Amino acid sequence: MRKQIVAANWKMNLTKKEALYIYDKLEEIQLKENQEVIVFSPYVFLDALKQRQHHIKVGAQNFHPAAQGAYTGKVSINHLLDLEIECVLVGHSERRILFNESDEVIKLKIDVAVNNKLETIFCCGEPLEIREQGKHLSFVLQQMESNLFHLTPEQMKQIIVAYEPVWAIGTGKTASSQQAEEMHRFIRMSIEHRYGKETAGNISILYGGSCNPSNAAELFACENIDGGLIGGASLNAEDFSQIVLAQ
Ligand code: PGA
Repeated sequence: MRKQIVAANWKMNLTKKEALYIYDKLEEIQLKENQEVIVFSPYVFLDALKQRQHHIKVGAQNFHPAAQGAYTGKVSINHLLDLEIECVLVGHSERRILFNESDEVIKLKIDVAVNNKLETIFCCGEPLEIREQGKHLSFVLQQMESNLFHLTPEQMKQIIVAYEPVWAIGTGKTASSQQAEEMHRFIRMSIEHRYGKETAGNISILYGGSCNPSNAAELFACENIDGGLIGGASLNAEDFSQIVLAQ
């Protein structure tokens, strides 16, 4: 049975006090047997969150692919491992668009994360003009082919896919459950085509893009949607808890 996951992407938000408050609130939720909650926090709170020793996982939103060196302002995977961080995000559209992360860089980061045995959320998703042209499926397939499909079947076990249509991120516009399910089924079929039925059946595929307490249950009820990656609505303990409970 594949894992059901709700992950918070706090992006560049919250104070330390607010972050710890939300994290402590989440610990009060009784999770289902195959359910996992992850909090992707700004770097500066990671250590404090880990010190809490809660069962809610802590992840980092980014890292530099080099192990160490003269990269002023950057954080390496070794820093994350030193703090016992368990998960990372790779390929988020904000990293691709605002920070010009190329397919080569994303592929390299995937390799670094997987080789260091971190649970890796790989984000993919099309911009608005691509959806309007009806080319969203081939666009996402291309992202998976150039960023992900070089992994071995064994390495794929560490991957969680997050489908995040760019036009739905932070816009209040959510993909309908039909649009999301169509893409999730397509992602799973593409993985099956490349890696076989077992790998495809075991991989969790999350939806991200203006997911909130009022649309989460409908999205999570879809056959191929195994949870969500939540931005704006994860900044409020009550809203995010409701999304976790909607699963
Ligand atoms: P949003 O962000 O929920 O605010 O749309 C999702 C994300 O970027 O992961």
